Amino acid sequence: MSFDVEKVRADFPILHQEINGKPLVYLDNGATTQKPEAVIEAISHYYRYDNSNVHRGAHTLSDRSTAAFESARETVRQFLNAQFSEEVIWTKGTTEGINLVAFSWGLSNLKPGDQVLVSEMEHHANIVPWQMVCEKTGAQLQAIPVTEDGDVDLEKYRAMLSDAVKFVSIGHVSNALGTVNPVREIISAAHEIGALTLVDGAQAVAHWAVDVQELDCDFYAFSGHKLYGPTGIGVLYGKRALLNDMTPFMGGGEMIETVSFAKTTYNKLPYKFEPGTPNIAGAIGLATAMNYLNTFDRDDVVAHENDVLGYALKRASEYEGLRLVGRAKHRAGVLSFLIDGTHPHDVGTLLDQQGVAVRTGNHCAMPIMEHYGVPGTVRASFAMYNSRADVDALFAALDKVKMFLL
Ligand code: ALA
Repeated sequence: MSFDVEKVRADFPILHQEINGKPLVYLDNGATTQKPEAVIEAISHYYRYDNSNVHRGAHTLSDRSTAAFESARETVRQFLNAQFSEEVIWTKGTTEGINLVAFSWGLSNLKPGDQVLVSEMEHHANIVPWQMVCEKTGAQLQAIPVTEDGDVDLEKYRAMLSDAVKFVSIGHVSNALGTVNPVREIISAAHEIGALTLVDGAQAVAHWAVDVQELDCDFYAFSGHKLYGPTGIGVLYGKRALLNDMTPFMGGGEMIETVSFAKTTYNKLPYKFEPGTPNIAGAIGLATAMNYLNTFDRDDVVAHENDVLGYALKRASEYEGLRLVGRAKHRAGVLSFLIDGTHPHDVGTLLDQQGVAVRTGNHCAMPIMEHYGVPGTVRASFAMYNSRADVDALFAALDKVKMFLL
């Protein structure tokens, strides 16, 4: 393996600072990842030299912006191995992508008696939009049960599949537990009964190379900021035939072909789903983040991240008074835990005083917290620039937390 974590860390300026007098140990990558110099520079360069609106200007800056914006779309297509670049819809993030599918596809296709399945461990963004659309259409939202270890219960999932199920929406990786779901199996079982599928890839895309054709998912949504890119930009991938059949989710400029008070006709893909001025700098920043990731052998990144997470899990299993929440065998990026006799928020605050950044709370996944009977957890989440030394720093800081609180 030729992965050099120190070299990677040197690419991320924010990591080289002290917090509360201690070197920053950033372990909140599930919430957002830090940005490499290349991404910061691409955004700054765009605003310094090329800023202009896309697709409509009759001048050089607009041509440059349009070319960079559309080339970013092509970068995403290649990154996901999508067949066509018009299958790549810019959104502001995973949440908007899921809402787009729920409201556009769901409102037109769901009817009373139909069912939508999500798992019990989903992020609220993959529960609430479906709940809202089910309320409007009379369809039912059903939760696929999760085992004690934190895996989707595949047997129960298969038993739930019937003609009534029209859509299955599933997280690729749980942000609360780190479980990697067997999405290929889940998708193919859904397709057998004619249901469509969406994968919430927010917590997956930074970790390994996702191939939407291999997964055969109908939709795949993710956010740029969890992939070393900027906030406010995301992607919804959808199969072209399905997107063509769907009505726009939001109306405005850019998404139309002709407008009159008698009738408006819509633009072709992907613009039909992109009303208003898009996040041009965001798209360019995200493409730069993808190009940055592509400079590595993605298998090396996976091996490094697995090593760090495996080490963290080993230390956690040996640590007195630490209770892991979620013990799935196949997992990525996340260590969710509780320290006996302490509240997660107190642990988070005391870790921060020692320079260690984690997230605490329910992680926008209240149903799975309820499943485990906990109000929340402490979550350390890892990225490619984290190392075993960061794990050691976390546990050294936890020793001090325990001395203070217990
Ligand atoms: N969904 C993000 C997280 O898991 C914010 O932290």
